[in-house]
Amino acid sequence: MTADGRAQVAEGGASADDPAPYFVRHVFVCTNERAAGHPRGCCKEKGSIGLRDYMKAKAKAMGLSGIRVNSAGCLDRCELGPTMVIYPEGVWYRVETRQDVDEVLEAHVARGERVARLMLRPEDGP
Ligand code: FES
Repeated sequence: MTADGRAQVAEGGASADDPAPYFVRHVFVCTNERAAGHPRGCCKEKGSIGLRDYMKAKAKAMGLSGIRVNSAGCLDRCELGPTMVIYPEGVWYRVETRQDVDEVLEAHVARGERVARLMLRPEDGP
């Protein structure tokens, strides 16, 4: 039970009975939009749609297979955006430029490394 009385979900981890993952890496890019002036802001106003489009095109141009880049609704870390999360690792990034996208694709997606300077940690927050 959490401090606010909600039930805690089980920790992750693959089960032996799980089917093989359909994608090796699945990237969710928040493209949520809120009304101008909303106190939390939104990723769309920070350029996330263009970054998502660029990431999809760049992944294709790099010839990467086993990756899917999808739009996501609000990932609930709005103040830290533009946000994205990559599964199955569950690693989050704030990606603000095309150069950031290149770095995530080349390091994390293609080589299985991490981009520490862009990574969001659970303790990061507004
Ligand atoms: S608007 Fe992107 S995380 Fe909420």
